[in-house]
Amino acid sequence: DGVQIIRINRPQKKNALTSVMYRELISAFDDGDADPTVSAHVVFGLKGVFCAGNDIGEFLSFAQNGGMPLEAILAFLGKLPVIEKPVVAGVDGIAVGVGVTMLRHFDLVYASPESFFSTPFLDLGLVPEAASSLLMPRLMGHQRAFELLVLGEPFSADRARECGLINEIEPSSGLEERALSAANRLARKPPEALRLARRLLLGDPKNVLDRIKLEADLFRERLTSPEAIEAFQAFVEKREPDFSKLTKGD
Ligand code: COA
Repeated sequence: DGVQIIRINRPQKKNALTSVMYRELISAFDDGDADPTVSAHVVFGLKGVFCAGNDIGEFLSFAQNGGMPLEAILAFLGKLPVIEKPVVAGVDGIAVGVGVTMLRHFDLVYASPESFFSTPFLDLGLVPEAASSLLMPRLMGHQRAFELLVLGEPFSADRARECGLINEIEPSSGLEERALSAANRLARKPPEALRLARRLLLGDPKNVLDRIKLEADLFRERLTSPEAIEAFQAFVEKREPDFSKLTKGD
């Protein structure tokens, strides 16, 4: 019915995104944008998990030996502001890191009451990405964006709705149906009017792309910092990070 469903599906790692998955996501958005029978994209995760953010093992491999090219994630972040057709998402459960920041580029987001939204960039020695440093303060004001992105406070579904990050809370059992029905309604709108209206609401993507680039330069530097390496190693080794031995300026 004019809707393309993109499902993030890596249950064994809580839908953490790898380079391969970023490339597949980009292809899916490109294919749907180019397909005249598709009017809207819908992004789902799995029951209980939308996306646990970037694969931390890949981050560690990049930090230690440049093993993971960053191009795939950077290409995905650069794709988000220029997806041509509307995107609807259904979030059930865990949404972490880019699993949260990508939502700000979507048009309608429905989430189950069990969902929680967390962006622990700072705790990983990193900086916010996907233009979240620009778009989240615009959406929810500086203080609440600071709480989410810097303090790293997880937001419940209620808080996410209050902040404008999601449209509605829907029980997990009816979540996908709710998102699909909204996407179907979009698919029945006059396509050119829909395209123009969405572009007007989103505005010129240039500022957003510039911010993504600025963040990416810092993110790339931070990835190889001793702070980040300690945080990634701690995650992989299932222990608490210990930043106390790092000297100031690391
Ligand atoms: N990268 C790589 N692997 C991840 C991952 C990630 N971002 N998130 C989860 N996993 C893996 C775990 O290592 C574990 O793998 P294992 O079974 O081989 O040991 C598996 O997924 C299950 O995760 P677990 O931590 O046991 O599940 P949980 O339900 O207790 O917690 C999370 C889920 C998402 C809260 C927790 O895994 C987490 O905090 N992940 C890191 C999220 C993050 O910081 N992302 C990066 C943001 S920039």
